[in-house]
Amino acid sequence: MTRSNRPSARTGALLAILAVALAACGGQYPNSTFLHWSDFATDIDFLWDRLLVWGTIVFVIVEAILVYTIIRFRARPGAPEPKQTHGNTTLEIMWTVIPAIILVFIAIPTIRTIFKTQAKAPASSIEVEVIGHQWWWEFRYPQYGVVTANELYLPAGRTANFALKTKDVLHSFWVPNFGGKRDLISNRTNYLWFTPNDTIKAVAANGQCAEYCGDSHANMKFRTYVVTPADFESWAAHQKGQAVFGVAPPEPPAAAAPGKAPAKKGAASGEVALSESAAVVTGFVFPADKLPAYVIPRTPLPGGLALDDATLAKGNADSGKAIYSRSTCIGCHAINGNPMSMGIIGPNLTHVASRYTIAAGLYPNDARHLSAWIKNARAMKPGSLMPTLGMEMWDPMMKMKVTTGGLTDPQIADVVAYLRALK
Ligand code: CUA
Repeated sequence: MTRSNRPSARTGALLAILAVALAACGGQYPNSTFLHWSDFATDIDFLWDRLLVWGTIVFVIVEAILVYTIIRFRARPGAPEPKQTHGNTTLEIMWTVIPAIILVFIAIPTIRTIFKTQAKAPASSIEVEVIGHQWWWEFRYPQYGVVTANELYLPAGRTANFALKTKDVLHSFWVPNFGGKRDLISNRTNYLWFTPNDTIKAVAANGQCAEYCGDSHANMKFRTYVVTPADFESWAAHQKGQAVFGVAPPEPPAAAAPGKAPAKKGAASGEVALSESAAVVTGFVFPADKLPAYVIPRTPLPGGLALDDATLAKGNADSGKAIYSRSTCIGCHAINGNPMSMGIIGPNLTHVASRYTIAAGLYPNDARHLSAWIKNARAMKPGSLMPTLGMEMWDPMMKMKVTTGGLTDPQIADVVAYLRALK
């Protein structure tokens, strides 16, 4: 490289860095803390801006003096030693008083924000119990009688007061777009509250566990949907209800798989469905066409797990319910309306089909991923408490093949049809 083209190479490198930096600023902001989607986020951002401005002013002045001093008083051959100063009262008072004044300008708004965010939430708040589990989120709305998992719905313009608890180890609740991050600590309840802006019609945001909590800490995600108060009420009213088959169960396949329980059509769904099951009215669900790309899971599915489409298409919800109700599923999961299913260890599945994700936001909630999940959850999410259920599947935690009690592919297809019907 010749001397003459060096500056152009340097300029090129600089431009490349600038281009990368600008590219990072473009497009959607998946998990930004700088979006003013709630009062909390706005307050924190105000503090951040203030610190940035003061920090920049101090940095520029200090660096300017430093650079000036280095150049002005540098050693030169033959030059005399510069005049030495020992102690300067004026200077010392100045560099004590000026930072003190700057700190006051930072401290007052900081303390004000701390007091504001640590205060008790307004009485009109919507109460949300957030319960951390290894590795998923349980959301309870005591005022609405709703229990759900991994997908948090909030009404715009109303303060949401989160009571943060954990069933096992420490976790941390964080939705960057709405601000605030607070730990879930064993044997105590922490509180966090914020008010999503009342101008919001429908936004979706990612949430993430922000405290290392074991094997699948990184896989402990959730989604937050902020919708209009009317849409929220519609969602909550439906979620509160018992499980209903949202779609008519398909006819049982002509050739039933060996070992499969005969589907008792009507009788099974009669236990589940409410009286108005003929005309199922489902509540509000966040509109699929408004889901931003960044909330759609893209985790690769391990090979050899998903059922083929033909097997899935033969799934029968009624026989799926029967299989589900006599399998280990009921020991961990609750489906309100299915008296056999009252487990509390795993996520509540009453309206599982109204969610977009499974496995704490790790995979999309569709028949393919759900079938793979039932077959071998532990191969899809390290450390998952959900046991491997697929017949002949290798359970990576038990270090053995599933034989007795395992589910065949057609049986899994039936269970998938049942769960997919729980709108
Ligand atoms: Cu829960 Cu990290």
